[in-house]
Amino acid sequence: MSNSNKVLVTGGAGYIGSHTVVSLVQAGFTPIILDNFSNSDPAVIDNVMEILQQKITCIDGDCRSAELTESIFKDHNISGVIHFAASKAVGESVEKPLLYYGNNLLSLVTVMETMKKFGVTDLVFSSSCTVYGQPDKLPVTEETERKPAASPYGNTKKICEDIISDVVQSETGFRAISLRYFNPIGAHPSGSIGELPIGVPNNLVPFVSQTAAGIRESITVFGDDYNTPDGTCIRDYIHVMDLADAHVRSLLFLTEQPDENYYNMFNLGTGKGNSVMEVLKCFEEVNAIPVNYQIGPRRSGDIEQIYANVYKAENILGWKATRTMPEALADTWKWQQSLKKFS
Ligand code: NAD
Ligand code: WQD
Repeated sequence: MSNSNKVLVTGGAGYIGSHTVVSLVQAGFTPIILDNFSNSDPAVIDNVMEILQQKITCIDGDCRSAELTESIFKDHNISGVIHFAASKAVGESVEKPLLYYGNNLLSLVTVMETMKKFGVTDLVFSSSCTVYGQPDKLPVTEETERKPAASPYGNTKKICEDIISDVVQSETGFRAISLRYFNPIGAHPSGSIGELPIGVPNNLVPFVSQTAAGIRESITVFGDDYNTPDGTCIRDYIHVMDLADAHVRSLLFLTEQPDENYYNMFNLGTGKGNSVMEVLKCFEEVNAIPVNYQIGPRRSGDIEQIYANVYKAENILGWKATRTMPEALADTWKWQQSLKKFS
């Protein structure tokens, strides 16, 4: 990493990217956002600037355009990249695999080509616990075998990890980290930024908060006949601000690396599994608001349970999650209530 503190944040207007931009600025970095707003709203940038009380550079464009990424590297003395930009809806990826392979793979390749051209070495990549599928043993460590992907989306994450690994082995200088997020939830404690699902949410927590807000009549719990204590699926839900901090820590860690050609991957979770019903009940309790729900059939493709072994990130990166589920769900509700700004 050069002496500059400028970090290219692709997809920086999105859910995890926008929170990471806040943490980056607070840690002394200057983020340069590149986002095509295919799954975000430009108003997010205004809200990030309001939180930070300073201007942020945001370029509206596509990271598959080499002409554009090269112009950004030319105009700004970029020292590292956090690559969030991707399409992320699992179901849509089954219907439109070319969109997913096209966007997720070409975005990464274009960004890495540009990094190589400009001698920028440090990359943090958004991967996912989806690479593990339904693991045979819990909790999952980074050594747990990756399973054949259950969706084109999941496959793009596996292939992107492989691309990075291959490039690091062959291209002198690259230093990269793949962060395998478990289930990100929550919002910035100000309530000014959070997850902004377009249309009907696929994920649990946005659906719960929209139901509490009266936007949805009720939420269907997808199956209560799993082999878990209360019969509902178990996931490792992590506060998005903890994830944001992990990106800052990863970038700093890369700059501290004495070796070139470094690659590693880390689970980002809390290490604790919670069931769907536990999340629902916790939301009701912490926000003192009822959530209508009914039990429905299992959702096709769902795995029964997964949660992370988080010791590698703690031991090597010196990072661990510090925020609780009640905090995350209180922040979600605060964000949900401020959402009128976007409508
Ligand atoms: P998001 O959709 O909110 O953010 C992604 C951002 O990238 C959006 O603002 C979108 O407009 C932008 N984008 C997409 N393609 C682009 C392109 N070609 N050029 C420029 N901008 C582009 O998603 P998120 O939840 O913040 O996820 C960020 C990353 O983390 C993604 O790579 C996602 O696959 C990964 N991830 C997310 C989750 C999750 O549950 N949210 C879990 C694991 C991994
Ligand atoms: C969580 C639990 C559902 C909605 C997805 C992607 C994964 C990763 C994270 C990107 C499950 C249950 C949900 C609802 C419900 N993303 N649920 N009713 O499926 O663990 O992971 O997001 O990499 O790749 O697949 O998250 O939030 O959709 O579901 O009962 O209306 O909530 O069955 O058990 P999931 P989720």
